[in-house]
Amino acid sequence: MPQVVTTVSELRERIAAARAEARLEGPADAPAARVVLVPTMGALHEGHLRLVSAARDLGGIVVVSIFVNPLQFGAGEDLDRYPRTLDADVAALEGLADYVFAPSAAEMYPDGPSSTRVVAGEVGSLYEGASRPGHFDGVLTVVAKLFNIVQPDVAVFGQKDAQQVHLVGRMVDDLNLPLRIAVVDTVREDDGLALSSRNRYLDDGQRASAVVLSRALAAGADAAGQGVEAALAAARASLEAEPAVKLDYLVAVDPDSFAEAGPEHHGPALLLVAARVGTTRLIDNRRIALG
Ligand code: PAF
Repeated sequence: MPQVVTTVSELRERIAAARAEARLEGPADAPAARVVLVPTMGALHEGHLRLVSAARDLGGIVVVSIFVNPLQFGAGEDLDRYPRTLDADVAALEGLADYVFAPSAAEMYPDGPSSTRVVAGEVGSLYEGASRPGHFDGVLTVVAKLFNIVQPDVAVFGQKDAQQVHLVGRMVDDLNLPLRIAVVDTVREDDGLALSSRNRYLDDGQRASAVVLSRALAAGADAAGQGVEAALAAARASLEAEPAVKLDYLVAVDPDSFAEAGPEHHGPALLLVAARVGTTRLIDNRRIALG
């Protein structure tokens, strides 16, 4: 079983000891002394376990953080009902992670919500950030804290949260943080629904409707050869055929800058979608090739 650690000081001690031990057994830059972090909010599913397996494959000491970060939830969002399943999460990480860092909110924010924040910049207020003002400042603030606490060589994130991956990468570059970001593809159910901790909020009917997000992205990908407008129209038509799903945004973006892809954009792009199924907000994305 992974060791569960709840305080910053103990985690730092344990990681320092594990690194020192690994270095005694090999060269200082040996993969065994590498620290790999997988930041999560728990309620782990197969998608998370794929991230942790990728971390394990990188060798070294694998730390999974489990912290439902209040800073990234807006008023009226699902902070209180967000699933907290620590015991099951720790059991699922058996053989995959060395340490689970599961701090309390008081450990992470001893003086209440931190007054110092990382600001996500312009892209942080687009798309997901437009629907959830302040969300990415909260994400980047906790991720920066986790990077400083764990001091990983590599941190692993899922492509499912494409805008988050982009912004974390920007933060690492902009602030010269000494680590590498590894990205793992989205894991899907057999019918295409992207795995998400929020899928457990869906009743059977909503679960059946939710598959339209990935279907819409597939329709957009099929039409992408005819340009961005055709891709968006095809995806939108799919979504509109499912009245139980209320579209929040559907947009094609340049994968490098996350600027919206206009009609002059040809080549690789990312199609991003967010929609509400009942009270549950789901996101998904897919790489497309715009003709
Ligand atoms: O993707 C998530 O689960 C969260 O946004 C993260 C990166 C763990 C920060 O709280």
